[in-house]
Amino acid sequence: MQEYDPTTTEHWQLLTRLARRARTDRILGYFDQDPERCGRYSLTLGGLFVDFSKHRIDDEILRALVGLAESSPLGSRRDAMFRGEMINVTEERAVLHSALRDPDGAFAGTVKKELKRMGAFCDQVRSGEWRGYSDQRITDVVNIGIGGSDLGPKMACVALEEFAQADLSFHFVSNVDGAPMRSLLARLDPASTLFVVCSKSFTTQETMLNAATAIQWFQEKTGLASPMASPHFIAVTSSPENAAQRGIPNDQILEFWDWVGGRYSLWSTIGVTICLMIGPDRFNEFLAGARQMDEHFLAAPPSENLPILLALVGIWYSNFLDAETAAVVPYCERLSFLPAYLQQLDMESNGKAAALDGRRVSYHTGPIIWGQTGTNGQHAFFQLLHQGTRLVPVDFIGVIQDSMSSEAHHRVLLANMIAQSAALMSGEDSDNQHKHYPGNHPSTTILLNELSPHTLGLLLSLYEHKVFCQGAIWHINSFDQWGVELGKRLTGQILDENQGRAFDPSTRALLTKAGL
Ligand code: F6P
Repeated sequence: MQEYDPTTTEHWQLLTRLARRARTDRILGYFDQDPERCGRYSLTLGGLFVDFSKHRIDDEILRALVGLAESSPLGSRRDAMFRGEMINVTEERAVLHSALRDPDGAFAGTVKKELKRMGAFCDQVRSGEWRGYSDQRITDVVNIGIGGSDLGPKMACVALEEFAQADLSFHFVSNVDGAPMRSLLARLDPASTLFVVCSKSFTTQETMLNAATAIQWFQEKTGLASPMASPHFIAVTSSPENAAQRGIPNDQILEFWDWVGGRYSLWSTIGVTICLMIGPDRFNEFLAGARQMDEHFLAAPPSENLPILLALVGIWYSNFLDAETAAVVPYCERLSFLPAYLQQLDMESNGKAAALDGRRVSYHTGPIIWGQTGTNGQHAFFQLLHQGTRLVPVDFIGVIQDSMSSEAHHRVLLANMIAQSAALMSGEDSDNQHKHYPGNHPSTTILLNELSPHTLGLLLSLYEHKVFCQGAIWHINSFDQWGVELGKRLTGQILDENQGRAFDPSTRALLTKAGL
């Protein structure tokens, strides 16, 4: 792998110098200097409007940031990714989640066939043609999965509730904590319940144990000898042999491919729960929204390219202005799982210190992503955003037309969001430090015309590519996740008495105290 260190480029060095003055620049001052700033620092794509005018970035800084992107391997890595080259070098895999939403691409044949199977299955369940063991129709769908096999489907199902089929209820079980599964099962009727066991590897400890508990419950309630072979269990995996070994018949296994990363998998058959909820036509609209962003990402010049610009804004704060975190605050309760989803997308992708060429990086990579919906967050952590000592860039996400809300509520919700971004940037002087708002706090505002499958697709694809661009500039592999393996291994060693490991004294004491 070719060596690349962004800190040695002239643009990085220029940005380091520009950061010295940007620390004292006022964002409001940029508006005074440039009456056209609002228009020049915002972009529209489909039903998505992105305003990045409230940042500590002026034209000189923006030019240097764009120069950084242009002189980095971003362009070549992007093209290699879309071509299906093996850019995930540490796992020796291609990275092709974008192929899942490309109806005309080189992989369209393979992808379409499986998505068609998924659509046909969803139609059967939704129409009532898919019957349970006692000839009842399905009323409850339980998605069992964790990480990418849970967060994407759960986030999208909650977001797209407006389009849900009324006679189907959806439930998500991810944690290995047995309590949520137990209380859910107590409310379900096995005769009308469908379990969708989602796991790329089909070995993940939490998912396998949750599935085993569901199977046992189902067997006890129904007396069926092979629950997994009944129409109540579906597997979604890129390891069909593992699912088959556990007794799921081939025609109840939906497949996807190892070139779809877990945190990028909701576009694949891992999205079956979304498709069950909104139907295949709307699922296709969701894919089409993401595709529109893919095409924009491929074609737009860096200075007008939404994912590249958002990536550069993030890099500016992380690497030049010392921000350690970034907040995501959607002003829409149906986007309540978006911060958690983006947390996995970003932190599992870019939480790396090893560069692609094997050296250890000398600069910060992925920030800590956190957040929750507004206005709730205003009554919790916004105090720190307004008057704390840390720099936290915020992404505000709002929906212009919300037919699920009422005009009275929606006006108040949007007014709050816009007031917060204004207050953060403008601040307000007072001689009393307790009542002084320093302002100059940066934010991006993303407005969706409406919250639909199409606009959700656009939004998620925007963030996926933003994370990709940052990883390319930092020269790290955004597509592996070796950091999670050691903890998994140690859990196995704790649970398997035969593997006795010499743990440190603190850990030994905790194990004794916990009775393990
Ligand atoms: O936590 C690590 C991880 O591998 C994630 O990347 C993934 O989304 C999750 O576990 C679940 O994995 P699987 O889909 O294989 O069960």
